[in-house]
Amino acid sequence: MKVLGIAGSPRRGGNTDRLLAEVLKGAADRGAEVETIVLNDLNITPCQHCNDCYEAGKCKYDDDMQMVYRKLAAAGRIVLASPIHFMGVTAQTKIMIDRCQALWARKYRLKLPPLGDKRRRKGLFVSVGALKKADLFQPALATVKALFATLDVSYAGELVFAGVEDKGDIVKHPDALEQAYLAGQKLAEG
Ligand SMILES: Cc1cc2nc3c(=O)[nH]c(=O)nc-3n(C[C@H](O)[C@H](O)[C@H](O)COP(=O)(O)O)c2cc1C
Repeated sequence: MKVLGIAGSPRRGGNTDRLLAEVLKGAADRGAEVETIVLNDLNITPCQHCNDCYEAGKCKYDDDMQMVYRKLAAAGRIVLASPIHFMGVTAQTKIMIDRCQALWARKYRLKLPPLGDKRRRKGLFVSVGALKKADLFQPALATVKALFATLDVSYAGELVFAGVEDKGDIVKHPDALEQAYLAGQKLAEG
C-alpha cells in the first residue's frame, strides 16, 4: 500500500505538516509505504488553459508536475494537507489541482481508462484554519472532492480543525495529533 502525503502549506513544520506527519506515521505503523511531497519546493507552472490536454490526454508542460502525475497514479491512498488561505486551499495546492485538468480531460473528455480502481483508492483531506467559522472548510472541501473524483479516488473523509493559527498551535489541541495518527492507521487498513 503506497500512501502519498501532499504538503500544501508554505510553512514547513506548521500545523498541517504536523498533522500530515502523524497521519503518515499511523499508516506506516500499519505497514504502508509512505512518502511526502512538499508542493512549495516544486516548480509547477499554473494551468495555462491551452486545452492541448483535451487531445493529447496529458499536459505538455515539462515541470515537476510530471513527477506528481506519476505519484498520483501510483498511490493507493492520497492524503492532501492544506491550511485554509482566503477560504480555500493554498495557492501551492490549487496550482497542483488545476494542473490535474489534464487528468480531467483524460477521464471526462477522452474517456481513457481510469488512473486506478476507485474502490481501492482513497483520499483524505487534512486542513486547519485560524477562524472559528461554521463554513470555514466548505469551499476547500468542494475543491478537494472534485480533485479526488478526477483522480478516481474515493473520498475517505476529512480531518479539519478550526481556531488553529500560529505555528505549532495544533500541538495544543487536546487530541488532534492522536486523531491524525488513528486516521492514518485506518486509511492504511482498509
Ligand atoms: C495568506 C493567508 C490566508 C489565510 N486565510 C485564512 C482564512 O481565510 N481563514 C482562516 O481561518 N485562516 C486563514 N489563514 C490562517 C491559516 O489557515 C492558519 O494560520 C493555519 O494554522 C496555517 O496552517 P499551517 O501552519 O499548516 O500553514 C490564512 C493564512 C495566510 C498566510
